[in-house]
Amino acid sequence: MSLVLLAPMEGLIDEIMRDLLTRARTYDWCVTEFARVTGTLLPNRAYFRLAPELKQGARTVSGTPVRVQLLGSEPVSLAENAARLSSLHPAGIDLNFGCPAPIVNRHRGGAALLDEPELLHRIARACVAAVAGQVPVTAKMRLGISDKSRCVAIAQALADGGVDGLVVHARTRDEFYRPPAHWGWLGAIAEAVRVPVVANGEVWNTADYWQCRAESGCADVMLGRGAVADPFLVERIRAVQQGEAARTVEQDWPRVILLLADFWRAVLLKVEPRHAPGRLKQWLNLLRRAYPVAERMHLHIRPMRSVDEISSALLQWGAADVR
Ligand SMILES: Cc1cc2nc3c(=O)[nH]c(=O)nc-3n(C[C@H](O)[C@H](O)[C@H](O)COP(=O)(O)O)c2cc1C
Repeated sequence: MSLVLLAPMEGLIDEIMRDLLTRARTYDWCVTEFARVTGTLLPNRAYFRLAPELKQGARTVSGTPVRVQLLGSEPVSLAENAARLSSLHPAGIDLNFGCPAPIVNRHRGGAALLDEPELLHRIARACVAAVAGQVPVTAKMRLGISDKSRCVAIAQALADGGVDGLVVHARTRDEFYRPPAHWGWLGAIAEAVRVPVVANGEVWNTADYWQCRAESGCADVMLGRGAVADPFLVERIRAVQQGEAARTVEQDWPRVILLLADFWRAVLLKVEPRHAPGRLKQWLNLLRRAYPVAERMHLHIRPMRSVDEISSALLQWGAADVR
């Protein structure tokens, strides 16, 4: 069956969110937020912080494989880190060439390197050699920095560098996250390289999923914001793939409430109380896109500042006791 992958999302999909979103075991794998490599060898604890799942066989609680992402621009340093990371047995290592954040790009990280296919090639080759086949190495790229005309050359540079697969976010760096995603560009990339190409960008529902597949010609898709906006999107996609009727968002809302309660409990254990409300509001803000009722819940909870207020509000909304 075609792959459905859970995207890396810094500040949004950490081990808590990975646990919740992979409970249905329907993602083929997920990818962590990026570890920034700047010339030093990161200690093991940095990788364990990013991916606590490394201590449990690099799988989420429900068994979904967890790959770890690296971001940097120095082939030697990235390779040393990839070697160390591979000794911790992640399910794979992914190289980030898609991040558009100015602070990251100023330090020559993420999408800033897309104008330098030769450097991308050297990074890929060095990392692939360093892990010596112990784990798959993939790369995540965008279509370019400001124009798309070199997207095939970028993909070829990475594929020739030996990566096992590519995820292509179908936008340029300068397009940030603005719709639309240009799925139509992915076909030429997939034809030009011998490794699997996964389509990514702007898949919010099952209709988008099928349209993305049709326009890109890629069977495999990675879900980002759409996966967070609708935690059951992957189940809906799988149901349609198997010719079954997909559940509706209305049917799934009570399940979302249960996830929100579990999320809140886990966030309270992980972060300081003053940071917890922001995490819940961040998720509610995205849930509004898929669940109309989340709009009301977001409006209700948005002004709240204290943990107790939010715990009580969650109870009101039907969550089991979360205090
Ligand atoms: C808040 C946020 C954080 C992200 N963090 C990462 C990251 O750490 N590594 C990465 O490769 N991509 C990152 N991305 C990009 C996503 O993985 C994905 O490529 C992008 O959101 C497009 O997919 P979507 O339209 O389905 O969200 C991030 C995107 C967002 C919105």
